[in-house]
Amino acid sequence: MNITVVGSTNMDLVYRVPHIVKAGETLHSTQHELFFGGKGANQAVTAGQLGAEVNFIGNVGVDDFGEKVKRNLQEKRVNTTAIRTVGLTGQAIIQVADSGENSIVLFPGTNFLVSTEQIEASKEIIESSQVLLLQLEIPIPTVELAANIAQSTGVHIILNPAPAQKLSDSLLSKVSILTPNETELEVLTGLKTETDEDLLQACSLLLKKGVGAVVVTLGEKGAFYMNEQEHGRVQAKKVEVKDTTGAGDAFNGALAVAICQGKSLKDSIVYASNVASYVVTQMGAQPIFPVSVPQINTDCSDN
Ligand code: RIB
Ligand code: NA
Repeated sequence: MNITVVGSTNMDLVYRVPHIVKAGETLHSTQHELFFGGKGANQAVTAGQLGAEVNFIGNVGVDDFGEKVKRNLQEKRVNTTAIRTVGLTGQAIIQVADSGENSIVLFPGTNFLVSTEQIEASKEIIESSQVLLLQLEIPIPTVELAANIAQSTGVHIILNPAPAQKLSDSLLSKVSILTPNETELEVLTGLKTETDEDLLQACSLLLKKGVGAVVVTLGEKGAFYMNEQEHGRVQAKKVEVKDTTGAGDAFNGALAVAICQGKSLKDSIVYASNVASYVVTQMGAQPIFPVSVPQINTDCSDN
């Protein structure tokens, strides 16, 4: 097995509204749709759709949503043998205003029940993968244990530090590639992230803590990256944006695939950024690719 994702699954309940609802206000939604979501699942599905072998370690709820979430993962080429069914399925209640701004209420449900014991039980899956892909919608001790296992067997760790929170130096020191957006970078470092010089300072601080490389996703402004050898920027493709939900997840899923293929950091970022640009042209957080896209050479095996 090549890529292991340890993370969250959600149902995204998306409501189009004239404006984000205010306290005490009742607002009519003009359109409602259900999408599969959760940062972990979005990243796993992206990698699976791009042709990688993907194992998912996480939970789905005991409810109807949980069954659908699991079936969706299976249909999108994600191995679900390490998934447990417990608690209520996570939900993201997303308001999308006509202006394009959004707001999210996240109910973690089953995702907060992804335990260290569960990681222990699936240790071999992590140990036999090339890349471990992590985000922060499950308990941090669970993320930390998964990282410890990966590090001790030389598995690359890509950590998407979303949603934003501070992380221990010990966890950071194990990360091969850290992929914050500007807000997450600010929270992680306590530094501002407005100019290229700011980004350089903030990334340097993380490299000093032992992070292998930092890739800052900047939305339509592309990505800024830095490791011990180099730093630079990759521009984003101009596309017609429909829904930016999941763009960061698609970026991370695709980045893991490219790293598995042995692409350079910069080439991996270009690839990931192209996949993310594609995802924002569609509604929902998980990409739907025409059959032609997975033909990009995405064979992850190196033996
Ligand atoms: O990154 C986007 C995801 O964050 C959504 O799919 C939603 O479920 C939230 O977890
Ligand atoms: Na989208």
